[in-house]
Amino acid sequence: MPRSSLRRPGQDLDLSKHLCDTDQLPNDLSSNSLFGNQHPLELEVGSGKGLFIDNASLTNPAHNFLGVEIIAKYAKHSAAKLARRQATNAMMISGNAEPLLAKSIAGGSLEAVHVYFPDPWWKKRHRKRRVLNEQSIVNLTRCLRPGGRFHFWTDVLDYFEDTVELIAEISPILGVPIPEDEIAATHDLDYRTHFERRSRQNSIPVYRIRYEKRQT
Ligand SMILES: C[S@@+](CC[C@H](N)C(=O)[O-])C[C@H]1O[C@@H](n2cnc3c(N)ncnc32)[C@H](O)[C@@H]1O
Repeated sequence: MPRSSLRRPGQDLDLSKHLCDTDQLPNDLSSNSLFGNQHPLELEVGSGKGLFIDNASLTNPAHNFLGVEIIAKYAKHSAAKLARRQATNAMMISGNAEPLLAKSIAGGSLEAVHVYFPDPWWKKRHRKRRVLNEQSIVNLTRCLRPGGRFHFWTDVLDYFEDTVELIAEISPILGVPIPEDEIAATHDLDYRTHFERRSRQNSIPVYRIRYEKRQT
């Protein structure tokens, strides 16, 4: 399904507090270095048009939210939503989440990692490009604090099954998958993400789980 076009942020909108390129980042990504406080930090990998980070940061002001999006125009679009309402607990990074998870986030420091509707890379020979792979699962597990959450939703059954199997094999400390419920939408943007909205409006099944990292 094609993606709909993006509204351009106004030229006078100041994105300096809500958008960062990877070459402008501090070496360690933390609530302290990014937001100047100690609030729990939640990371979203692949924010797309930013519906999740916008809603989650609005409804959970006691947590900080960091979105990473590899397509610059989507990172900018998401940052513009945050800038328009002057969110103080959320920002976007324009770039690749994988090296950040591997090197820039301290072990045991994240409250949650969110991955919603990652690109499926259907062809077998392209599977290694999937954002959830052996290395990224090891990395995100390392970054989560004990008790921290990993949320994974997709409408691709094969991606869902492969990831559940892989986690059981290489990252059992994440525990067992806990099903998450579909929430009835009360208005047109009352979905966790744009891709969730699209799947549900087209009657495509969605597989929703979270893990909670074990204490030991
Ligand atoms: C299918 S879209 C889903 C977007 C959004 N999560 C949603 O559910 O509406 C997947 C997004 O992940 C982004 N992405 C893919 N690989 C990434 C990476 N390595 N780092 C950051 N973002 C990535 C893509 O650019 C795309 O916007």
